[in-house]
This record gives sequence, structure tokens and C-alpha cells, in this order.
Amino acid sequence: MNSIKELLNHQQEDWSLDQRFYKDMSIFDLEKHNIFYNSWIFIGHESQIPNKGDFFVYKLLDEEIIVLRNKENKVKAFFNVCRHRGSRVCLEEKGNTSRFTCPYHSWTYNLDGKLLAAKSLREGIEKSELGLHPCNIESASGMLLINLSDNPESLKNLQSDLKEPFEMFGFKDLKVAAHKNYPIASNWKLAVENYQECYHCGPAHPEYSLSHSLKIEDEPGFDEAQEKMMKNLDSCGLKDIEVNKDFSNKDPDQEQYAYSRYALFDGYMTGSKDGKPLAPLLGGIKEFNQGCSDFNIGPVSYFLAYCDHIVGYIFTPTSQDQCQCDIYWLVNKDAEENKDYDKEKLMWLWDVTTYADETIIVNNQKGVNSIKYQSGPYTDKEHSTRRFIKWYLSELKSYAL
Ligand code: FES
Ligand SMILES: [Fe+2]
Repeated sequence: MNSIKELLNHQQEDWSLDQRFYKDMSIFDLEKHNIFYNSWIFIGHESQIPNKGDFFVYKLLDEEIIVLRNKENKVKAFFNVCRHRGSRVCLEEKGNTSRFTCPYHSWTYNLDGKLLAAKSLREGIEKSELGLHPCNIESASGMLLINLSDNPESLKNLQSDLKEPFEMFGFKDLKVAAHKNYPIASNWKLAVENYQECYHCGPAHPEYSLSHSLKIEDEPGFDEAQEKMMKNLDSCGLKDIEVNKDFSNKDPDQEQYAYSRYALFDGYMTGSKDGKPLAPLLGGIKEFNQGCSDFNIGPVSYFLAYCDHIVGYIFTPTSQDQCQCDIYWLVNKDAEENKDYDKEKLMWLWDVTTYADETIIVNNQKGVNSIKYQSGPYTDKEHSTRRFIKWYLSELKSYAL
């Protein structure tokens, strides 16, 4: 077995990854600590914890993070690890509480992570030094992002460059209408590689391809649809903004992000089966514009913003050879289910599309496991996947070499 260094040096640019990147446990360990515990990841919306004492627990590989709203109405996050002998402190997935009592020996913490009570603690040991470990959490217009690192990259540029797009779609005034978890029997990179390209959209996604012009990017008809969409952007209450600071364009010491918008085909106002609206208009949008916007936030969190709803996509590993896609459907906070939106109709497109993706990603993994798998050339239609892989390799290089 070559060392990771040899493997990285041997990897050909713009060709798919060597099999070992998908199978080697030491590579997965590097990814876990340096990508997943060291990137900003979308974990939910502030509206999920509206009241003081509301909390939920977010799980990522070996880690569990308690996300809560404290007595001062601030959102905080703590590692779910007792400072006595390390037990999980909170065993519930969500709820409302004024304190957390460890189930093992009853050490008790308040909503600021401070240790309040620890029976029979030896003299000279300070309770004030045994609070729950805090975890970085930031709200990007209501979207909660966490980063498990002690030294996270800054979200300053993301917060200022995406402020306007967030406002256009009223991100802070959203609520989660639905959330679904899709387990995928593949290494996480195959799922992200797949999400980054629409080369597969034609054969794999007939439902999506009927309405979304990204399917014909670089083909005749794309520019025409784009022009049409742009024409009434302004009158719909949207702005022509493009930000590209992700993957290979990332600013040093800043988390990556991007924003762009593309057209939907004639007859489609949103990502619905019949093209008709699915929910009330979002934010400052005055009327439906025939398009959808892509947000990239950090390496594995993406949002698709239609005029009436947002779909959040987050890819995380659950082990070296398994991953998951969490999808959130968000609508205006005042929209009422069964009156203003129908959950099944709202979820239809990305539910059917994600199941189709799961199938092709799992087939991809099976082939990658073969003794005959070799790197293959990425096409021009896979430019974003190429940028993702380039970024991934440079990250790995900086940690492994
Ligand atoms: S491990 Fe939590 S109180 Fe002992
Ligand atoms: Fe897909």
C-alpha cells in the first residue's frame, strides 16, 4: 500500500479519484478530523428552537452537539460530553429544559453550559472550570451553521456577501415544513460528486429535467431561458447577484460560499410537478420569477431557493462507506400546512430526485469497489465536480503532507 503522500502525488488532475480515496480508513480519518470537524455545516433553522430552553441534538460521526436557546434568548451549542467521566449528558433528541442533568452521576449544567451541581466533588476542584465544552455556532439569517474546530475559518465574508440574497428570500422568516434523512450506501465523496454535476440529470432525473434549465447548461436554449428569466427579475423583487467563492475560488481563512440563479422552463414557476406555486412567496419577492437560485455554504451544505420555498441539502458521512443526505424544505414562517402548502406536493420533486440519486450513487460505489475500477476522465459537463475534487485533494495535501 502506497503512503497517502504517494497516492496524492500519483492522482491525475481532472480524472476521478483513485479507489483508495474511497476505501482507505486512514484517509477517512483525515477527512473526518480536517473536513467534517473543521467546516461550517448547516444543521437547521433558528425557528426550530423558538423558546428559551428549547434544544435539539445534532449528530455527526462520533460527535453530538446540543443546540439550544438560552435564558438570554441566544442560540448556543455545546458538546454532549459530561466533564465528569464523559457520558452523554442529554439523551433526548429534542425538547425544552432549564438544565441538563447527566444520567450517570447527576452532574447538572445550565443553559450556558456551566456546571451547577456535582455532588461530593473533591475540595480544590473548581466547578467553574468544568463547564460543557462550547461548540462554534453562527446564524446566517436564521440558518444555523456549526463548526466543531477550535480554530474555525471565518464566516465574515459569507455573511456580508450573502446578506442580500438571504434577505431577498427572507431566510430569517422561514420555518422547516419538512425534513427527511436519506441514508446512502456509499462513501460521502461519491454523493457530493454526484450533486455537483448535472451530466446525469437527463438520464437519471426525468422529473427535474422537465423544468430545470441546468440540465441543458452549455447547450442551445440555456442562454435563451436565462435571458427570459433575467428580464423580469427586477419587477419580481429579485436582484441579479452572482458570488463565486467556493472550492477552488475560496478566500484564505474564510469558509467557502457561492450564489447563482438559473432559469426554469416555460410553464414552471417553481419546482412543482405541474409548474404551479407550492407555497406563499418568500421574503421581498413580489411575483413569481421563472428561476431558482443555488446557494453553496461550506463544502457540503447547499440550498436551492425557489420563489416560494427553499430546499436545503446536506451531505455527511456516517462511516467510511456510508453517508446520508439530509433534506430540509423551508417555507415562510406564517404559511400554514394544508391551507397554504401541501407537504407531499412540496417534497415531491426533491424526494423523487434524491431516491434516483441514491440509486446511481450506490451503483457508482459498487463499481468503484471492483478490482477493475480505474480513474476515468471528468468531462466538461462535470466542471463543478472537478472543482470539488481539486479542492478536496488540496485539503488532503495540506493535512497529509
Ligand atoms: S459521567 Fe456525567 S456525572 Fe458522571
Ligand atoms: Fe442527481
